[in-house]
Amino acid sequence: MSNYETITVEKRGRVGVLTINRPDKLNALGAKVHEEGVAALEEFKKDDEVRVVVITGSGEKSFIAGADISEFEGKTPVTQRATFNEKTLFNSVDSFPKPVIAMINGFCLGGGNELALACDLRIASEKARFSQPEINLGIMPGGGGTQRLTRLIGEGRAMEMILLGDMIDAETAHRFGLVNHVFPADQLEAETMKLAEKIAEKAPIALQLCKEAVKFASRSNLDEGLRREVDLFAIVFSTEDKQEGVSAFLEKRKPEFKGR
Ligand code: COA
Repeated sequence: MSNYETITVEKRGRVGVLTINRPDKLNALGAKVHEEGVAALEEFKKDDEVRVVVITGSGEKSFIAGADISEFEGKTPVTQRATFNEKTLFNSVDSFPKPVIAMINGFCLGGGNELALACDLRIASEKARFSQPEINLGIMPGGGGTQRLTRLIGEGRAMEMILLGDMIDAETAHRFGLVNHVFPADQLEAETMKLAEKIAEKAPIALQLCKEAVKFASRSNLDEGLRREVDLFAIVFSTEDKQEGVSAFLEKRKPEFKGR
């Protein structure tokens, strides 16, 4: 893997770990983090050994404390729009063909929450805090917050988070369905890796098609979604892993999926 300035990347078996590494700035998402994060995801995408990616923040305190506010100064509407329409981490994670898990170790604010929302699963520490605080800066979410948060937790709860900009704790985020699981801080990493490794054992093409189908659910109507699902279901029947999965079941053994 390449070396980066604002992130670190490592492979732990079949799990790729991308850590935003600006602890002195609470891992704020600056342009360089987006650029390097997108490049690292490209590396993980091409690497067949990597079956699942975990994204987290360095240090004890923060997952990601939002967009880098210092970079907002001097931005015009045109340059800001271009930045957010370009290759962002939000878009790269959203269209990433393998499952992506947000391991939320602390502050999960603004663009940090939006990045977590673009991930497929969100696992939080009891110490994590969540917010869309843009309103307190006189702006609004621009990395998918108004859209993905609303689809995930419903309009009433999303509206309250976005209009008030207050922080909610991990237990509330869990109750809202914003995060899948909450663990004590000292167990977060082990539990997240356990989950990632469990997913990493499954058939990669089936995982990719499942992700595509589920994501399509909030982007289509029911009839279109059901048609897409049947098409993807048919495609998965062309894989060697489908044969392996079915044979292993009938032979009462554990399947060995190869991603073909
Ligand atoms: N962008 C740029 N820098 C940020 C940042 C952000 N989103 N969030 C934190 N930082 C920086 C701080 O400026 C500070 O830098 P400094 O040491 O050079 O002054 C450093 O990270 C530590 O943050 P600090 O505010 O001192 O920590 P805290 O524990 O007192 O407060 C927060 C933590 C998260 C409550 C506070 O940092 C905060 O409100 N951050 C902004 C959150 C936000 O609005 N994000 C959405 C952006 S659209």
